Amino acid sequence: MKMTKYTLFSKTPVQIEPDCYIMALESSCDETACAIVKNGREVIANVVASQIKTHAKFGGVIPEIAAREHLESVNAVIDEAFKQSGLKPEQITAFAGTVGPGLVGCLLVGLNAAKTLALVYDKPFIGVNHLNAHLCGNYIDTDLEPPYIALLVSGGHTQIIDVQSYSKQEIIGETIDDAVGEAYDKVARLIGLPYPGGPVLDKLAKEGNPNAFKLPEAKVDGYNFSFSGLKTAVLRLVKSFDGKELPVNDICASFQECVSSTLYKKVKKALEASGYKQIVIAGGVAANSEIRKKIFSLENEGYRVNAPIMKYCTDNAAMVASCAYFNTNTFDDIDVEVFSRA
Ligand code: KG4
Ligand code: ZN
Repeated sequence: MKMTKYTLFSKTPVQIEPDCYIMALESSCDETACAIVKNGREVIANVVASQIKTHAKFGGVIPEIAAREHLESVNAVIDEAFKQSGLKPEQITAFAGTVGPGLVGCLLVGLNAAKTLALVYDKPFIGVNHLNAHLCGNYIDTDLEPPYIALLVSGGHTQIIDVQSYSKQEIIGETIDDAVGEAYDKVARLIGLPYPGGPVLDKLAKEGNPNAFKLPEAKVDGYNFSFSGLKTAVLRLVKSFDGKELPVNDICASFQECVSSTLYKKVKKALEASGYKQIVIAGGVAANSEIRKKIFSLENEGYRVNAPIMKYCTDNAAMVASCAYFNTNTFDDIDVEVFSRA
């Protein structure tokens, strides 16, 4: 992405590194987002149109409706990003879009908008992997550089990643069944909370006793995880109340305690084995207060801990632009096709 140019009057050309402005689009699930990021770390514009209200009625994301809402919002988020930034399309260095994983009909909207902008303004196009983009949310407003261990926790993924460099990373552990966000959303549903369950459950957990119920931590090899047994345990617990009023806050707190301590233990083990001094968390569930608290407690043991601020944890396009800038396993091909699974 680095470009050089020369001043007109100097005898020997002076190399100037012009600032790089990447406009990115993100539409993999239920947020239509557009952002402009300068040099991978400085957010010049950040616009997110959320569809949560629409899908809450159904208790989950309806792909067909989501795709149509993306179509309705995409032009507006692009216009608003240009307006916020004060930049003209000609001043954008490159256009980027999320390629996958995500809902195919949804991805197509943002990706094709980004490709079209690149073609019309004759600029490079950069396709981005949504999961790598979540990690890159950690470069925004920081001086963080690899290597580090990353805990990626979202609605669809739970991974521990050894990030060796900007472009070289290895998944060293992942869930063998439900993702953490999925477990949050399913448990929330079981106890009658609205979609998306994660943020509500997190809030109620703060009012409850984390030791009220002993829920099982799955024993899984290495750095892998399993959360489906925990979900079943909560279902059994709910049934044991046999229609009587549920101690919702205590259930939330006990579930949150179980999830966060499982994540903490595995991350700590991976960190110690890696010899790295840095750990980052990323993905929508990285917004969770207890997970943040436990992972940030590693600072007391001399580790540097980083997590994006809340608005860069959940789906957004600033992280996509950052990922495009740092060239984190990108697809620099205008013909790249969307994909649904990692
Ligand atoms: O990364 P994301 O915005 O979308 C995906 O790529 O999946 O993550 C969405 C997930 C949802 O499952 C949502 O319930 C969860 O992140 N989430 C949370 C919190 N905020 C969002 N889960 C637990 N605690 C939170 N505070
Ligand atoms: Zn996401």
